[in-house]
Amino acid sequence: MAQGEKKFAGRYQINRKLGEGGMGEVWLAHDLEMNEEIALKILPSEIALDSRAIQDLKNEVSIARRLSHPNIVRVHDLGREGDYYFITMEYIKGITLLEKLVQLRERENRNFQVDEIIKIAKPICDALDYAHQCRIIHRDIKPSNIMISEDGKVKLMDFGIARVVKDTLSRISQTRIVGTLSYMSPEQILGEPLDARTDIYSLAATFYDLMAGKPPFASGAVEYQILHEMPKPIPGVSKLVNAVLMKGMAKKPEERPVSAILFYEQLVKSEQYEKGVDRTLKIEKTKGLTNKAKYMVIGAFITSFLIGFLVLDSFNGWLLWKKEPIVKEELSGTTPGGIEKQQLESNETKDLTITDTTKKTADTENSDQQPSKDKESKPSIRPAPTTVVPTIPPDVTPILTPALPDVPPPLTQKELEKMSGYLKVSPSPPTTVYVDGVMMGNSQRLGALKLLGGPHKVTLVSQQYGSRNVYVEIKAKSTTNVSFPY
Ligand SMILES: Nc1ncnc2c1ncn2[C@@H]1O[C@H](COP(=O)(O)OP(=O)(O)OP(=O)(O)O)[C@@H](O)[C@H]1O
Ligand SMILES: [Mg+2]
Repeated sequence: MAQGEKKFAGRYQINRKLGEGGMGEVWLAHDLEMNEEIALKILPSEIALDSRAIQDLKNEVSIARRLSHPNIVRVHDLGREGDYYFITMEYIKGITLLEKLVQLRERENRNFQVDEIIKIAKPICDALDYAHQCRIIHRDIKPSNIMISEDGKVKLMDFGIARVVKDTLSRISQTRIVGTLSYMSPEQILGEPLDARTDIYSLAATFYDLMAGKPPFASGAVEYQILHEMPKPIPGVSKLVNAVLMKGMAKKPEERPVSAILFYEQLVKSEQYEKGVDRTLKIEKTKGLTNKAKYMVIGAFITSFLIGFLVLDSFNGWLLWKKEPIVKEELSGTTPGGIEKQQLESNETKDLTITDTTKKTADTENSDQQPSKDKESKPSIRPAPTTVVPTIPPDVTPILTPALPDVPPPLTQKELEKMSGYLKVSPSPPTTVYVDGVMMGNSQRLGALKLLGGPHKVTLVSQQYGSRNVYVEIKAKSTTNVSFPY
């Protein structure tokens, strides 16, 4: 698409290219109808030729549009111009976490630090938790799908959509997996049914990448490693923080934290534990106890709480990567990473005998996690591990995770009904009404629009008076009336 082109799809003035992913280009555009800046993502032309792809995409866009959260990039609409489908979404003036990492490495010769990760983890985990509560999973969390705006807001983007495009291309081109493998969970690689815990894995892999300067498995037989090996701990990062990351990347979904918020809390607690000495000093002002007694009470409290929480919950994770034999025995045949005991042991031997030319041992691959002044310190955007997946050695059968009975099923029609309410808009004089960026009609009185409970953005566009935004909260099973006298 050429910059300065008159009008794209009869509505958008194209401004400049914002970036390019494996699936197409993203442009900054001016929505002439709504009079606002938007980001416009042009999808690969193959999509327009495939009716199933179009249907999948429509479903995914309509699901993504239900999400309304301050830390999720809002999806406006799906459109078509000639041979191309495109998606319009909220424009974020800022950079992705991948770009930020590259900046840090180039300018300061370092990766993200734990406290920086903890700061950005809160809004990301909040957003993810919200989406999971709406029973929506992202399926493609990675540093380039998280943005930090110029005013410091953290935004998660490409919910569901990025993955559906890649799955479609994979089906059309008959390539097993299209896209970056680095952050994919084992169950996603195996093509199993997914639930929220696949996002927890990808988020842990993302944080690992940001702190290590490269993904958990960055080269060689990445698919094999994701299924059978644990990443090397990140040098210079505490054991507990590493343990929390490893637990997030456990092979079996049921070994991971059950929610994004829990994952966040574990990260925070592991970091606080490391800084325990500073915190006891802060509490010196407490009245009524001598300093010695205060330290004892506080120390006992902190120790019992943290040890109870972290050691029990996270110890398993890091013992796996340390491969302590005692843990394997205690767990009656299954390691926390989800590989059967005998399997793990036999895999260790197989690691050495596999003759894949791309394969290296985990040790050699991960030996340069931290940027060092002696080593190359100009990372640039790292090439994503290949889109053509190396074959798993035939003598290694991956352990399949059985579908879990406690995984919440997708919302049924009945549940959706329960969670939905109605919006009645009566603009006067008649104007064009948009709800969450989608045109609903042009009249003085619109029928009741059924919407999922939660906040929604209503925009009125009047030729005479310009556009106006109003935010309404839709309550489940009730009707909200909005009238707009200009
Ligand atoms: N809503 C947006 N606002 C501002 N910039 C954006 C927005 N969406 C994408 N970008 C920019 O466009 C770039 C390309 O995004 P895109 O989603 O196409 O690729 P990706 O996520 O890096 O990779 P892929 O889609 O291949 O997995 C991003 O890195 C970012 O710089
Ligand atoms: Mg993206």
